[in-house]
Amino acid sequence: MNHQELRALLADMSLKEKIGQLTQLDASFFSHEGPVTGPASELGIDEEDAFLCGSILGAVGSERTAQLQRMCMAKQPHGIPLLLMADIINGFKTIFPIPLALGCTYDPDALRTVGDIMARESAATGLHVTFAPMVDLVRDARWGRVMESTGEDPWLNSLMAEAMVRGIQGGAEAARASELKLDKKHIGACTKHFAAYGAPVAGKEYNNVELSMRSLLEDYLPAYQAAISAGSSMIMTSFNTLDRIPVTANKWLLRSVLREQMGFDGVLISDWNAIGELIEHGVAANSREAALLAIEAGVDMDMMSGCYMRSLTELVEDGSVPVALIDEAVWRILVLKNSLNLFEDPFGIAGKQSEAELLLNDKHKQLARKIAADSFVLLKNDKQALPLKNQEQVAWIGPYTDEKNTLGAWSFFGEKQYTTTIREALEERGLKPDIAAGCGILNPGQTVYGFRYSTKNEMTADQTQELIDQAVQVACGKDKVVLALGEVNIQTGEGGSRADITIPAVQQRLFDAIYAVNQNIITLIFAGRPLDIRSINEQSQAVLYVWMPGTEAGGAIVDVLYGDVNPQGRLSMSLPYSVGQVPVYYSELRTGRHTEDGSEPGNRFLTKYADIPNNPLYPFGYGLSYTDFSISPVSLSSDKLTSEGSITAAVTIKNTGKSSGVATVQLYITDELANVARPLRELKGIKKIKLESGQEERVTYTIDSNMLRFYDINMKYQTQQGWFTVWIGDNSQTRNSARFELI
Ligand code: NOJ
Repeated sequence: MNHQELRALLADMSLKEKIGQLTQLDASFFSHEGPVTGPASELGIDEEDAFLCGSILGAVGSERTAQLQRMCMAKQPHGIPLLLMADIINGFKTIFPIPLALGCTYDPDALRTVGDIMARESAATGLHVTFAPMVDLVRDARWGRVMESTGEDPWLNSLMAEAMVRGIQGGAEAARASELKLDKKHIGACTKHFAAYGAPVAGKEYNNVELSMRSLLEDYLPAYQAAISAGSSMIMTSFNTLDRIPVTANKWLLRSVLREQMGFDGVLISDWNAIGELIEHGVAANSREAALLAIEAGVDMDMMSGCYMRSLTELVEDGSVPVALIDEAVWRILVLKNSLNLFEDPFGIAGKQSEAELLLNDKHKQLARKIAADSFVLLKNDKQALPLKNQEQVAWIGPYTDEKNTLGAWSFFGEKQYTTTIREALEERGLKPDIAAGCGILNPGQTVYGFRYSTKNEMTADQTQELIDQAVQVACGKDKVVLALGEVNIQTGEGGSRADITIPAVQQRLFDAIYAVNQNIITLIFAGRPLDIRSINEQSQAVLYVWMPGTEAGGAIVDVLYGDVNPQGRLSMSLPYSVGQVPVYYSELRTGRHTEDGSEPGNRFLTKYADIPNNPLYPFGYGLSYTDFSISPVSLSSDKLTSEGSITAAVTIKNTGKSSGVATVQLYITDELANVARPLRELKGIKKIKLESGQEERVTYTIDSNMLRFYDINMKYQTQQGWFTVWIGDNSQTRNSARFELI
């Protein structure tokens, strides 16, 4: 449709129909015959209204999506197609590593590929928009949703957000969301959760956010801005408050900042029942007030609170809400549906044939295996314990050696039966692995919100001891032990905050028992967050952090363990020394009493702890390879930079080891003097370079004054003249530096 036709459609719609478009309902509201009375009436919605909803979430499978589409279109006075959405976060059927692991690739192309494949598989099943990417900056490992973000750094997250949006939307280019036209093989992106959802106080899920304005603008908003600039079709509001105002009712944030300053003109949807929760927040007395606050703040679509359907008609009729406000929101939704080609072709490529061709096809699985391997972070490799040699006798121990559930907490449609475990991958390699689980993932009797993860968790202490004893037998006398440990996926994700971020105690017992008989331990950590692994790290010869690797977990792990793939992942979130440090991140603000670990041991009046170090166990940007790299001192083309000009910073990187490998060279900048406190250092550039043994390459970065801007004392986004330090190295603690002056 052209915009004139869309305008004519809008003009012809009744108020009831318009309000329907502003409502999103869950698929469980609809059976094959029509709306299910129970859930609909709980929301105070009658059958006729339910049929008018503009969007349904959570329906997948081409048959089901087509059936819903046909059923609702038939009941809509203007036959307006539904917008079908679901949470496709790190894959639909082919599951890639969790987003936090994807962040560790430091490779936007990998994210673009993931976005592209998950969109193609989703389009085949009849989806139109995914609730992804989540671009929230995360610094508190207690929060379960850190797994869904690409990490702690604004610059890296922005790069990843842009790549993911472009991948999901098939690279559709437009200056603004309203001008997009997507191809039918891709879907829209709904970037979330605007804004600052990643900073809940104390890492507690759904908690409120207390943030300085500068931190909001400099740390939290850039990734959303990158997603908007890449054309994200939709944005979701967050549950939290910001400056004590719930975001979903925050007119300043949603209208002045998001729409006017950040230029977003796509569809803004609330999170699940976030409009209804304005009542729980205590800022609205009832559904009517909640609907009023949200529509005035500019929320176009109400996900699952029913407030819009229940109250907007009355609000318009009594003059509290002008029809123009409703029309503005409906217009955006119609424009989005048009950009997704739904008026011409509501079914797109969806169908059995597309599903058969696309879901979990070989190409997708190969890419999932490669990207998973590239996301693993090698934290330690003493005595070159890795890679394993074919002739070595290895004991494969731990609850994750034959575990299929490695898809992460947000893979609702991935099926674990298609996951390759480590055991299966070893067998595929022609090995006959000596395996023992040793224990369950959780402690005997432990549940997560009442959910028992596996039958092993129901074992008695004696039965568990038997399993540990069997594992010890397997480990005795072997050249090496690979111990596959970690947390369980449901301890992460939404509602997955943890105050104790260690591995379950039973696994520590298993580790200790194995260590007593064989100290050649290589530990694999499966997790959705940076865990406190310090004692395991201390006692292991090698540690490989594999996160939740997805469908191709086993193959990717075996590829890396046997050296077919050289690890190249780098931490995109600091790995804490202990939970007491959290939130711990590299770009902390300078304080009046800053100190480096160990630099002034006798002085207590410094920014530090008496009982633990300041440094995390492993810093942001850190990760080893099977080969070694040397990096030359930083050389600058000039030590004077003008506000209009640029200089270059260069290093030579050489592969000094025996195998080819990928180096991730990182550039950080410190602003030495400004009129507000500035971070200790900030990431401003990355380069990934593949080098053969003995090969070297010159790596050059361009620095200009745009990279040095910040919100100054007057809240102006600008630079200040003076000295800066540029650091180039292989993690955020590099000492390799040079200085220049902005004149
Ligand atoms: C709530 C979550 O916060 C959000 O991320 C998700 O997309 C919606 N539920 C829909 O499932």
